[in-house]
Amino acid sequence: MAQVAAEPRYAAWMSSPRLTVLGTGYLGATHAACMAELGFEVLGLDVDPDKVAQLQSGHVPFYEPGLTEVLERNLASGRLRFTTSYQEVGAFGDVHFLCVGTPQKAGEYAADLGHVDACVHALVAQLRPRSLVVGKSTVPTGTAHRLQPLIEAAGARLAWNPEFLREGFAVADTLHPDRLVIGVSDPADEATLRTVYAPLLAAGVPMVVTDFATAELVKVSANAFLATKISFINAMAEVCEVTGADVTRLSEALSYDTRIGGRFLTAGLGFGGGCLPKDIRAFMARAGELGVDQALSFLREVDAINLRRRARVVDLARELLDGSFGASRVAVLGAAFKPDSDDVRDSPALDVAAAVARQGAVVKVYDPQAMANAQRTHPQLSYADSIEDCLGGADLVLHLTEWKQFRALDPAATKQLVAAPRLVDGRNALDPKAWRDAGWTYRALGRP
Ligand code: UDX
Repeated sequence: MAQVAAEPRYAAWMSSPRLTVLGTGYLGATHAACMAELGFEVLGLDVDPDKVAQLQSGHVPFYEPGLTEVLERNLASGRLRFTTSYQEVGAFGDVHFLCVGTPQKAGEYAADLGHVDACVHALVAQLRPRSLVVGKSTVPTGTAHRLQPLIEAAGARLAWNPEFLREGFAVADTLHPDRLVIGVSDPADEATLRTVYAPLLAAGVPMVVTDFATAELVKVSANAFLATKISFINAMAEVCEVTGADVTRLSEALSYDTRIGGRFLTAGLGFGGGCLPKDIRAFMARAGELGVDQALSFLREVDAINLRRRARVVDLARELLDGSFGASRVAVLGAAFKPDSDDVRDSPALDVAAAVARQGAVVKVYDPQAMANAQRTHPQLSYADSIEDCLGGADLVLHLTEWKQFRALDPAATKQLVAAPRLVDGRNALDPKAWRDAGWTYRALGRP
């Protein structure tokens, strides 16, 4: 006790820890704002001064519905600030959340842990003894075990607390998660995290307390399962295509079986984004290093099915144009990897748009939010200012990201804009009967 009393800040954080969040991408910016929303004092750090300046002035540097309001409210309350200084973070924080990215390594399946390692090294030089570092980044299993001695050498501790938030629902998923998972090596660290998450625990959110390796694995296995579910229904779509069956009705019928459930069972262009594709690849790479590659060899097939769907949309498009793209004008609706996001990382829509352009088509892309990101990654494509501009004079329309603006299009009015009423619905999100009744040639994946 005497030792505790000698450190007043330690006594204070037992009831109200000060939090820092390292990395302010989709995960970190949301986590920082939401932890301040729960009433904590929060300091967010990023090495990019431009991001820090934007966040500090109330601007979210990416599209995430609802996040700007939470950010503005908590900046105004004085509970939330941002910095580029590790020194400030170390002096301020009792609990430090690691939220930096773990992208796929160039030319390899494995995850690139460069940001995690750089962040931990910079942080340990500044850590106050007894502070708790909490990993939230998605990492290969074994990472926490590797980092623990570095952090303990600084007199601090490590826990792992994976994040399951979906882009587009990041605020809701952070404030009302399905579950909390924490990997700890000491009950005292569990107690600290129970203090941090007290409001969520009081609201009945279940918490699974486990070891480092299990906590790390929960995240990658959840993403592997979701990817498998999507590729399963897309494999059924391939079978439907040769049997004349309808994968949307098949999926509906499967969904009534409560053992299966209907979520992540929409067949179409498949999964993309900054998580599922790279996470299943990193998981396979790690399994290889651990000598259990056979256990995850099915994920290779999950990945292959997913990529085949992109090729299938290109084939369908070519078929509709009588076997050649020639100099046809193709309108691409959607660039983000999914609706309600401006994220174009591994976007199936842009992949298809680029393939169609490579084969000679004149491609024009429109997306309600992802235009700037798409222009940056795919400067070779043309971009439209509006849906109407995109559709004007098109010989073929490709519906590749199911934004509500696209789902609400009126088939008869849309027909007036295009040169020829041909449509591939890559997301099975439009009503085939309505489009066909209006005179369109409608094709989709996995259905007649
Ligand atoms: C995912 C996980 O859901 C989340 O828990 C994890 O933390 C990060 O990765 P996110 O990448 O935001 O989240 O996207 P998600 O909503 O899961 O969608 C992933 C992809 O699957 C999208 O491209 C989407 O279009 C596709 N998808 C989803 C389908 O093709 N069919 C479906 O039925 C569902």
